[in-house]
Amino acid sequence: MIEQEKIEEILIPENQIKKKVEELGNQISCDYAGKEIFCIGVLRGATIFLADLARYISVPMTMDFMAISSYGISSESSGVVRILKDLDENIENRDVLIVEDIVDTGLTLDYLLRMLQSRKPASLKTCTLLNKVERRKIEVPIDYCGFNIPDRFVVGYGLDFNGLYRNIPYIFVLKTV
Ligand code: IMP
Ligand code: MG
Repeated sequence: MIEQEKIEEILIPENQIKKKVEELGNQISCDYAGKEIFCIGVLRGATIFLADLARYISVPMTMDFMAISSYGISSESSGVVRILKDLDENIENRDVLIVEDIVDTGLTLDYLLRMLQSRKPASLKTCTLLNKVERRKIEVPIDYCGFNIPDRFVVGYGLDFNGLYRNIPYIFVLKTV
């Protein structure tokens, strides 16, 4: 599916992702029993994860998406975030779950949390597939986490490098020439 020479190392194979996504979906379904979840996918990295996760969520849920762009060089977060696409719906009094592909410095999620909190949701929680704990610059609450990973640049399963590799069904470290 992808040229071998692009892969430094496969970090998380497809079957492990599937198992974890199912676990997260089950946990979320338990925790939100009797409620309706307003899932917010952060474009574009979280789309693949959210699409799979949604199929393991058994309580009522809706999906909306936000697109944000952080100023500064593309792979480093500055924490100054610009909204490129806002939500289509009002989240006031809704039980909101932010779904992210990866939390790195935490600056993006911190900004999102503060911005969404000001819109007065009934609850606001976070779910990320990947977590690079060592890279954290600001403490952010993560309610549901798939995998803690080391400080390496990873792609696949929604994560990209220059827009590529989102379609690859596993998560891998890209070989740098
Ligand atoms: P944060 O504000 O530093 O937490 O930035 C998170 C964003 O940085 C993610 O949503 C990704 O777009 C990007 N990012 C951080 N680490 C990686 C990586 O290893 N691969 C691909 N994108 C990454
Ligand atoms: Mg992202």
